[in-house]
Amino acid sequence: MRRPWLPLAVATATALLGGQLAFAGSATADSDPVSAKPSPAPAYPADSLRALAARVGLRIGTAVNADELGSNAKYTQITAEQFSSVTAENAMKWAEVEAVRGTYTWEKADQLVAFAEKNRQLVRGHTLLWHNQLPAWLSTDGYTTTLSNEEVKAALKEHIFAQVRHFKGDIWQWDVVNEAFDDNGQPRQTIWYKAWGGTGYIADAFRWAHQADPHALLFYNDYNLEFTGPKSNAVYELVKSLKAQRVPIHGVGFQGHLSTQYGYPDLQSNLERFAALGQKVALTEVDVRTLTKPDAVNVPVDALAPYAQESYWSRSLKACLAVRACISFTPWGFGDSYSWVPGWFSNPQAGAALIYDEQLNPKGQYQVLQQDLALASGAPHRG
Ligand code: G3I
Repeated sequence: MRRPWLPLAVATATALLGGQLAFAGSATADSDPVSAKPSPAPAYPADSLRALAARVGLRIGTAVNADELGSNAKYTQITAEQFSSVTAENAMKWAEVEAVRGTYTWEKADQLVAFAEKNRQLVRGHTLLWHNQLPAWLSTDGYTTTLSNEEVKAALKEHIFAQVRHFKGDIWQWDVVNEAFDDNGQPRQTIWYKAWGGTGYIADAFRWAHQADPHALLFYNDYNLEFTGPKSNAVYELVKSLKAQRVPIHGVGFQGHLSTQYGYPDLQSNLERFAALGQKVALTEVDVRTLTKPDAVNVPVDALAPYAQESYWSRSLKACLAVRACISFTPWGFGDSYSWVPGWFSNPQAGAALIYDEQLNPKGQYQVLQQDLALASGAPHRG
């Protein structure tokens, strides 16, 4: 069992002591102040996203496809070398860990946690409470169930305690509640909302998660919070209310699923207003999709689209860098072949959303992140 908060404590002490970490050649965990631990540690390139981000105490993460990790050598190497945080794309979701009520299948998630431990990475747990990917015995659509209200309440409490206790000490940030509001800022009428007769389930979920692991940072996570509007305003009021009730919520996850079909959001001002509530913030699921060819789902229709995508990636990272409370920046995977986007957005077709191409070669989107991070800790002095 690990205490992911310990590296953060060490890093804080280092920073307070003005510790300047030498930086040359290949980096090891020692040059990653947030996880500063004695070697031996796996080395990773000094120009990797994780090494460059460590210079300003930022964690660069990725969602991880459990089927590729360990079986695809190039995918596995990139995951280890480039990222200092990992998120289970699916392996920690309720349908994956308890398909049969009372029978837990932790293997895929445990493999990710072990991989993270070996590679000095912190883990984002995703997600304890959502209306998607629920086991069929609980609900097939997230909005209807054969269980009574009391059975739904008991099932959620049992699930949170079982899952958070299983991973106790291994999770840096938990996405406790995911996507509880619709784009109109109205609470989703999910089985949770119906069982509690309102949004009271949110406070209970956070309290239970905190009881199960007092050291984990507990997040509310959602998409389209990047834009000022009914949804981000509703979540802002939710967080204020939870804090007034002294509910243990520590952060807000901005998923960051962007598209060049739409304008760029006022992301930084939204990060700042949640930070002003005393919350940590994080970009948790970043991808930037664009219209692509139906017969080549990761080939942009417009040859200039990659430049717009690079701009959206760069502006998103710089917004996080500009807000001190922004502790992690996580693309929702890194290889276009493994992105959820083409399957989800097929009419019109969209894709090419990530930072490595179908052959796992870095794209321009990777290079702009690398350059922004290299400059984030100070451009080389002239002359
Ligand atoms: O595990 C089953 C497998 O047993 C079965 O054979 C196969 C074919 O039906 O399906 C597999 O489940 C799929 C699962 O991914 C694991 O691969 C589901 O069908 C598929 O719907 C699911 O898609 C995931 C999606 O969430 C579900 O909503 C994507 O991979 C995942 O990237 C996406 O991630 C979500 C975040 O969790 C929350 N924020 C939005 C984001 C994008 O939707």
